[in-house]
Amino acid sequence: MRTLLGLAPYFRRHAGAFSAGLAAAVLADLFALLPPQVLARAVDAVAGPTAGGSGRPGAEVPGALAQSAVLLVLLVAAAGVATWAARRLLLGTSRLVERELQSEVYARLLRLPTSAHERLRAGDVFARLTSDLSAVRDVLGPGLMHATEAVTYAVVATALMLATSPLLTLYALAPLPFLAVASAWSGAVTHRLARVSQEAYAAVAQRAGTGFAAIRVIQAFRREEAERATFRALDEAYVRATLTLARVRAIYLPVVAGLPGLAVAGVLWAGGREVMEGRVGYGALAAFVWYVLKMVSPLVAFGWVVTLGERGAASLERLRELLAEPVEDPGGPPPATPAPARGLLEWRGITLARGTGAAPSPVLRDLTLRIEPGSFVALVGPVGAGKSTLLATVPRLVEPPRGAVFLDGRDAREWPLGDLRAAATLVAQDPFLFGASVRENLLLARPGASPEEVARAAEEAGLGPDLASAWPQGLDTVVGERGVTVSGGQRQRIALARALLADPPVLLLDDVLSSLDAETAAGVLARLRERRRGRTTLLATHRLQAAAAADEVVVLSEGRVVERGPHAALRSRSGPPGPYGRMLERARMEEEIAAR
Ligand SMILES: Nc1ncnc2c1ncn2[C@@H]1O[C@H](COP(=O)(O)OP(=O)(O)OP(=O)(O)O)[C@@H](O)[C@H]1O
Ligand SMILES: [Mg+2]
Repeated sequence: MRTLLGLAPYFRRHAGAFSAGLAAAVLADLFALLPPQVLARAVDAVAGPTAGGSGRPGAEVPGALAQSAVLLVLLVAAAGVATWAARRLLLGTSRLVERELQSEVYARLLRLPTSAHERLRAGDVFARLTSDLSAVRDVLGPGLMHATEAVTYAVVATALMLATSPLLTLYALAPLPFLAVASAWSGAVTHRLARVSQEAYAAVAQRAGTGFAAIRVIQAFRREEAERATFRALDEAYVRATLTLARVRAIYLPVVAGLPGLAVAGVLWAGGREVMEGRVGYGALAAFVWYVLKMVSPLVAFGWVVTLGERGAASLERLRELLAEPVEDPGGPPPATPAPARGLLEWRGITLARGTGAAPSPVLRDLTLRIEPGSFVALVGPVGAGKSTLLATVPRLVEPPRGAVFLDGRDAREWPLGDLRAAATLVAQDPFLFGASVRENLLLARPGASPEEVARAAEEAGLGPDLASAWPQGLDTVVGERGVTVSGGQRQRIALARALLADPPVLLLDDVLSSLDAETAAGVLARLRERRRGRTTLLATHRLQAAAAADEVVVLSEGRVVERGPHAALRSRSGPPGPYGRMLERARMEEEIAAR
């Protein structure tokens, strides 16, 4: 529950609305507490003079009754209006706070480094953004409202009862200690289970999300049954946690609701004698019974508030964990133009491990490399050599240590992140497309680009033939969620076109030719060289054809640069062939076999 103090800033931001809402809630409860007083007067008027009563049967009785009836109607109406105002203000404002908290968490998520996103699970994040947020909202809306109700009833009803008869008040409040015990028990169990059930829910959401992202693999390997079983197991864990919660409430609620019934018995028993002996009036006794019975709803509300509070606290804890994730990106809008950069790239003795294992072995090992501004360099090497990792360190999509990666002689870690990413654009090996038109996917890189620029970028990325024949709607063809409705090669070229539209001083292309046939690849490569003249381009590739077309080839192996130089020089090196020579040799042999 202490965690909920974390909501204070939001409360303060909407102090006006919250205070007005609370005031309305108190008023509503006061109006609801007055009818027993009216009842008492009416009963006394009918019953005539007794020790506590003031009325006297006679001609004025019908008038008094009518007056009471009108008063009751007015009170009910006033309570209705106040309740409406309280709900509107408190529930409405709790939604506002929910939205603020949600956008705060979402903004944080957008700025988290890639490594954090690799660690966090999408389903868990989704659960925090949805069900955890609504649990917090419930504390501020219904929670506050019912807490107010419980407190107002407790204070005002007790005061009114005490004023009438301390003895009967004692009987009325006798069950309270039991209630306290039951509430403490239910609160403790709820707190423990709320977190468990939220985490179980997150696991279910996670599985459902991956399930559909992986639907093709699941169907291809006939894993539907296994998937269903896994899902059911996760779902069962969630259901178990929520069922236990429900069971606790199933015991708690009848106990809480039943206690006032006991109290009524006590009040009637003691109250009857008090009335007989003239210490308490008929009306007062009637009012008393009404109060005791009316205690049920605030007591139930109180238990509910305890549950809401515990659930909200557990959820707030989970939200604050996300908000506490460290970010390095200060955020803010992207710079208007690509940052001017000469395009000199340097890695100075970089050693880098990836992943979260106990002691992950380094992917890059004391690697030093300098790429001159304006050069077109091919990065080759076996799978897992570290090519993708090396490229990703420049825009800091993989965070390099300080003093390891430099653009124009300035440490990548010292560059404002926005400028750095505007200066160096990475086209990923497995590019992502949004479920939108090709045009919208391209414009993401530069929203202000003209239609001609978009068409040109598409043309240069080799999309010409597709636009001419495969896509009747041309650039307005929609590519489906994650780009599932276009071919792998089309997806690659759309991603390339997107980067060409951004036209950055440094372009990092991660294997963008891999899904293209040799002829298309050659065409794209030729246009790329033309377009990128004078600007730095680094292309990781397994295509030696592309390496031959580059100004220079850098060979990477096990996280180190093992050879570099122009293709021609590496090929005609004297002595035994180096790593690049051996790669060429293998490629040549394969071609010969194929030609036979
Ligand atoms: N997100 C990641 N978390 C942990 N380890 C990773 C991650 N990405 C890559 N690695 C590891 O880093 C090493 C180098 O991977 P990298 O993707 O840089 O190789 P590559 O040269 O691009 O290979 P390929 O030619 O297959 O694209 C691999 O051993 C890989 O398992
Ligand atoms: Mg790679």
